[in-house]
Amino acid sequence: MKDGYLDFANSALGAKLVNALGLPKPLPLERHRAGAPVINGPVLVGGGGEPQLFDALAAVFRSIGAQTLAHERAVQWIPRANAAGLTTGRWSGEKVKALVFDATGLTDSTQSDELYHFFHDAARSVLTCGRVIVLGRPPEQCRSPRQATIQRALEGLTRSLGKELRKGINAQLVYVAEGAEDQIESTLRFLLSPRSAYVSGQVIRIGRPVGTTAAPADWAKPLAGKKVLVTGASRGIGAAIAEVMARDGAEVICLDVPQAQAGLEEVARKLNGKALALDIGAEDAPQRLVAAAQADGGWDVIVHNAGITRDKTIANMKDHLWQMVVNVNLSTQERINDALVASGALKPGGRIVCVSSISGIAGNMGQTNYAVSKAGVIGMVQSSAPLLAERGITINAVAPGFIETQMTAAIPFAIREAGRRMNSMSQGGQPVDVAETIAWFASPASSALTGNVVRVCGQSLLGA
Ligand SMILES: NC(=O)c1ccc[n+]([C@@H]2O[C@H](COP(=O)([O-])OP(=O)(O)OC[C@H]3O[C@@H](n4cnc5c(N)ncnc54)[C@H](O)[C@@H]3O)[C@@H](O)[C@H]2O)c1
Repeated sequence: MKDGYLDFANSALGAKLVNALGLPKPLPLERHRAGAPVINGPVLVGGGGEPQLFDALAAVFRSIGAQTLAHERAVQWIPRANAAGLTTGRWSGEKVKALVFDATGLTDSTQSDELYHFFHDAARSVLTCGRVIVLGRPPEQCRSPRQATIQRALEGLTRSLGKELRKGINAQLVYVAEGAEDQIESTLRFLLSPRSAYVSGQVIRIGRPVGTTAAPADWAKPLAGKKVLVTGASRGIGAAIAEVMARDGAEVICLDVPQAQAGLEEVARKLNGKALALDIGAEDAPQRLVAAAQADGGWDVIVHNAGITRDKTIANMKDHLWQMVVNVNLSTQERINDALVASGALKPGGRIVCVSSISGIAGNMGQTNYAVSKAGVIGMVQSSAPLLAERGITINAVAPGFIETQMTAAIPFAIREAGRRMNSMSQGGQPVDVAETIAWFASPASSALTGNVVRVCGQSLLGA
């Protein structure tokens, strides 16, 4: 659905009015275009203490061809940055597209002023739709309470920067486990690029790889040769996921209910994919999916996108509406995962990506059934990750906020407007924003990402 306010706020007259009244001012967000570089501007690099990711960062910046500048004050690590080939010049206050701070070397809260100096100096220099990335060590793996304390403190910094910088700029914290330094490329490519347009204020954990990490021969087609099942693919977010997977080189199996067959076949035809009309809530759905996958030589990626809402306050909710939502949104996914994994129909090294919701994090009036199902998806992801890791399979979830689809177009006007504006981007996301996040998890280069739940919500105030 079109966001008329966004267009108005960016018109000559609208901009004046919006400024005068102090209303939210959403900017059109930059989104990925085929053939465009990962980042279209210089990156300002900083570090605190004894930064531990310089070599890994230098390799990524070389791989994406980014221009990198060193923060003036950081004289103590500039020789090391130069030795690693990390920075190509000193920053003299020019505008930059991204700020990247390696905070892995911070071991005590008294060092927090290193964060202050870098972000204080650079905050006004970030271009529209710029990026802020802070890299740290997972607090739960730190050697001392003091180190864990300052590492945990990074979360307050990045979440606040996401709220403060505005202008379509997002900010994320990436915890990199020891031994996973060489696993950061797929995540940095995603976060630095416009693919992460509507992701902000997130904490991402990169661990030791599950199975083998394969840097794609062509980063524009990371899913070449892969077979991807997308459920609920006939429209909305599911259709966008199928499209992005096909763009990234995958053969896509598009699934939806038989009633949606016409739309489903159209999506599949456009993408040279296959259409599979199946109600995933049906008792025999897992077995039918195993048979379809085996006939296909196995699948590499499963995207559990299909979902429904049946909203009523708990006192007014009929029990079949509760059952239906929990079954389609959660229990079927558990059954399907179990069947596909046990049969080997999801290949070793496979990926499972689930679609949760910020309702599953924050709860929502009239959505007890939906919130149970979507919080359950998070539970499923986090509890299955270590078990699936033994088979080289990763499992992650995205939790969308307000995304412009038929589902949200049906929301009453006032609630819809609140949903659109109550986030750091002051607008709803597009289905492609969810799809790009799923594509990052699905990549063969993302084997060090498992058990993550990343919100695609423009840093919504709900559940923040
Ligand atoms: N739109 C949003 O703002 C938003 C926010 C948070 C989460 N989500 C989640 O994103 C996913 C997609 O949402 P959307 O907005 O595109 O919704 P949508 O209603 O437009 O699409 C959902 C699709 O799932 C299919 N589906 C439903 N039940 C099915 C079943 N039993 N078997 C097979 N297919 C089935 C539907 O036919 C439909 O094509 C859902 O899981 C939803 O809960 C959406």
